Order: sequence, then C-alpha cells, then structure tokens
Amino acid sequence: MYFTTFNFFFVIAFALLALVHAHPVSLAIRDVFVPEVLTPKAGDTWVIGDTQSVTWNVSSPPAQITNPVGQLLLRKGELTQNVTLAGNFSILAGNVSFIVPSVTPDDDYSVVLFGDSGNFSPDFSIVANVSGTS
Ligand SMILES: *[C@@H]1O[C@H](CO)[C@@H](O)[C@H](O)[C@H]1NC(C)=O
Ligand SMILES: *[C@@H]1O[C@H](CO)[C@@H](O)[C@H](O)[C@H]1NC(C)=O
Ligand SMILES: *[C@@H]1O[C@H](CO)[C@@H](O)[C@H](O)[C@H]1NC(C)=O
Ligand SMILES: *[C@@H]1O[C@H](CO)[C@@H](O)[C@H](O)[C@H]1NC(C)=O
Ligand SMILES: *[C@@H]1O[C@H](CO)[C@@H](O)[C@H](O)[C@H]1NC(C)=O
Repeated sequence: MYFTTFNFFFVIAFALLALVHAHPVSLAIRDVFVPEVLTPKAGDTWVIGDTQSVTWNVSSPPAQITNPVGQLLLRKGELTQNVTLAGNFSILAGNVSFIVPSVTPDDDYSVVLFGDSGNFSPDFSIVANVSGTS
C-alpha cells in the first residue's frame, strides 16, 4: 500500500523504460524502502494516555536508503492528521513507542510510517480511558 503515488509511478515508469531498453529491471529503484507496518493490526484498540508501539518489517532493507529517518503520523479515514506520534527515529529500528495523544475517540484511525515513502496500517480504534475519571 503505497501512500505517495508519485514514487509508485516513478517506479512503474522506470521499469517500463528498463524494458524498452531490454535491460533487466534496474537495482537502482530498490533504495526506496517502504517497510510493511506489522502492528497495529485491524481492529486493535489504543487507550488515550497509554504507551503504545508501532512495529514494521525491517527484514530486507536495501543497502542504500535515501531517507533513514522515520516519522509516524496519525491518519483518520482517508485523511492524514496533523498529529506526529513519533519522529526522528531510525527507519531500520523496526519499532517506536509513544504516548497515545488525546484525540476524538473513533474506530477509523490508522498510522502512516514515513521514511523514503509512506506506508499505512489497517484501521484501529482509539478510545478514552474508561477506568479514569477524567
Ligand atoms: C517480513 O518480510 C519478509 C520478506 O521481506 C517476509 O519473508 C517475512 O515473512 C516478513 N515478516 C513478517 C512478520 O511479516
Ligand atoms: C500542525 O500543527 C503544528 C503544531 O502543532 C502547527 O504549527 C501547524 O501550523 C499545523 N499545520 C497544519 C497544516 O494545521
Ligand atoms: C534526531 O536524532 C539524532 C540522533 O539520535 C539527534 O542527534 C538529533 O538531535 C535529533 N533531532 C531532533 C530534531 O530531535
Ligand atoms: C524495538 O527496537 C529495538 C532497537 O531498535 C530492538 O532492540 C527491539 O527488539 C525492538 N522490539 C520489538 C518488539 O520489535
Ligand atoms: C486510566 O485511569 C486509571 C484511573 O484513573 C489510571 O490508573 C490509569 O493509569 C489510566 N490509564 C491510562 C492508560 O491513562
């Protein structure tokens, strides 16, 4: 699930160009590292104020990564929110932890993991802390 279509079209265009010139698909495109988000999974629930982590698959990174600095944003429905869950972490770390921010509880949140490009998780829920009084 590519978030930015620009990179996707670039890869397609590059692959077609490579075919036209009868070369094998170039290794040069491999440095766009778009790791798969492993957690949260569909239907997970986050509690506001709780410490949560997001994990992603770093089992096969390319030798060269254009942008190794990761950023994790919150997305609701189809819209990326102006909420940075975590930033300035290594895209090769495979996980990052943060406190769940106080957003409107709903069941259509997802996260967008950015490095070279963006990849997003399935939808999950964010709920208020029902055991708390505030
Ligand atoms: C991570 O990606 C590799 C291939 O790049 C795959 O073999 C492996 O199953 C993936 N791991 C998980 C937990 O999805
Ligand atoms: C996003 O939030 C930051 C601070 O939280 C603010 O400075 C910035 O203007 C906001 N951007 C948009 C597009 O709302
Ligand atoms: C980002 O992380 C690097 C290394 O951990 C650190 O040197 C740098 O100051 C951090 N930048 C910000 C804006 O936090
Ligand atoms: C999280 O990342 C750290 C270092 O990047 C690693 O040591 C740890 O095993 C990771 N934890 C999980 C649950 O993936
Ligand atoms: C939820 O509220 C209870 C009671 O106030 C508190 O002990 C607990 O730490 C809260 N949990 C979170 C994740 O904020």
